[in-house]
Amino acid sequence: MADVTRRIGLSLGADICWPIAFTEILKRLDLAVPVGGDTVRFEVERMTIDPFDLREPKRYDVVVDRLTHWYHTRREWIKKAVLMDDVYVFNNPWTVQSVEKLSAYAGMIRLGFPIPKTWLVPPHAYEPSDDLDYTLRTYARHFDLGAIGSELGYPMYMKPYDGGGWRAVSRIHDEPALRATYDDSGKLVMTLQESIEPHDHFVRCIGLGPQTRLVRYDAGAPHHDRYTDSSPDDYLSADDRAVIEGTTLIINAFFGWDFNSCELLHRSGGERGGADGGGGAGAGGGGADAWVPIDFANPCPDSQVTSIHYHFPWVIEANLRWALFAAATGRRVKRVDWDSFIARVEPGMTLRERIDALLPLVHERFDTAAFEDFCGEHLSHLHEVTHGWFGTDAARDAVRQKVVAVFPEHEVDEFTDLFFSRLQQWRDRNPVEGE
Ligand SMILES: Nc1ncnc2c1ncn2[C@@H]1O[C@H](COP(=O)(O)OP(=O)(O)O)[C@@H](O)[C@H]1O
Ligand SMILES: [Mg+2]
Repeated sequence: MADVTRRIGLSLGADICWPIAFTEILKRLDLAVPVGGDTVRFEVERMTIDPFDLREPKRYDVVVDRLTHWYHTRREWIKKAVLMDDVYVFNNPWTVQSVEKLSAYAGMIRLGFPIPKTWLVPPHAYEPSDDLDYTLRTYARHFDLGAIGSELGYPMYMKPYDGGGWRAVSRIHDEPALRATYDDSGKLVMTLQESIEPHDHFVRCIGLGPQTRLVRYDAGAPHHDRYTDSSPDDYLSADDRAVIEGTTLIINAFFGWDFNSCELLHRSGGERGGADGGGGAGAGGGGADAWVPIDFANPCPDSQVTSIHYHFPWVIEANLRWALFAAATGRRVKRVDWDSFIARVEPGMTLRERIDALLPLVHERFDTAAFEDFCGEHLSHLHEVTHGWFGTDAARDAVRQKVVAVFPEHEVDEFTDLFFSRLQQWRDRNPVEGE
């Protein structure tokens, strides 16, 4: 029987609040988990940016990564560490790098989900390069933007194929606006997409391993109020929830994403036909009343208390559970296995049938049963500890540090109070059992 320490590395950018919560709560958990005859303890460390030798021994067992989507040194370190040292990382770094918003739509169309009609158009302008002139003169054909507009119908959306934080997203009402917006789009590679409207709900579903959290999103509200705190049971049926949570988990398991969010709009009747799972592929559920996923290539979504406020403690708990499970069990990054998913769906299946056919595979890939056993056996005190920590001055200070970083000085007190009060709301509504 040996004492073993598993180290969780936090790969961070401008993250302030959640690493504090993660670290402090882990300390308070005071874990010593028996695994195969050993006693496993856990440490958490913020990773620094250094030169590295491909053959250096690993320092981390699990990496919670928020940096690789824009910081290449870390991305390459993570890929090496997965390949050479069996480091587990949320999320699969290869699919984070290569599956953009557009190819994520393609994957889900293939599985028969009701993805809106979507086109890609070549960019309006290009970075100069030696072969560019010849290539474009020879192969880039004039195309009729207006015809694509008519095919999609108005209003429609123009947005970059790789998405990200509402950058260059336009809602377009007619052909002149489509032409003008395209003419202004420069070197961005743009998608044109049917608009899902009218819609009566906008929901984000956060997935963390096999865990999900539904958050109603109010796109028109100021940034700090966009994630609302209403309970999903107030506005969603059990069937709605099954579709939203199932869709999110299937996306995440399919692409190898541990931590991702899926945005869905609920189309509420109306005149237009529309998202039908890809040109009549027969997705089912794509008619007037459908949950339409519009943006779901968001591996490592916003985790800041200033945007997710009320939901922040849930994310911390879920993050800790999944990281600790992965560290304790020596979890390894699984190879992406699209074929197994594709083999389980058949033409003519309804959306619910597809989800039901795919979920067992999802749970196999996430090892959900083993995860739930682990949480039940070793983390039964997690909620009590989290609940306690979020009532402390240290938690308030973590909130304040983030607020200082994003709000002007004269608003710091007001917004610290606001976000901290939402954490207290979460504590009130999620009491510790037996209290
Ligand atoms: N097909 C669509 N139908 C209706 N609204 C859309 C559609 N696509 C985008 N939007 C709106 O534009 C916003 C930004 O688009 P999104 O695809 O989420 O891009 P980003 O990657 O920048 O978050 C969405 O949150 C939604 O409000
Ligand atoms: Mg979005």
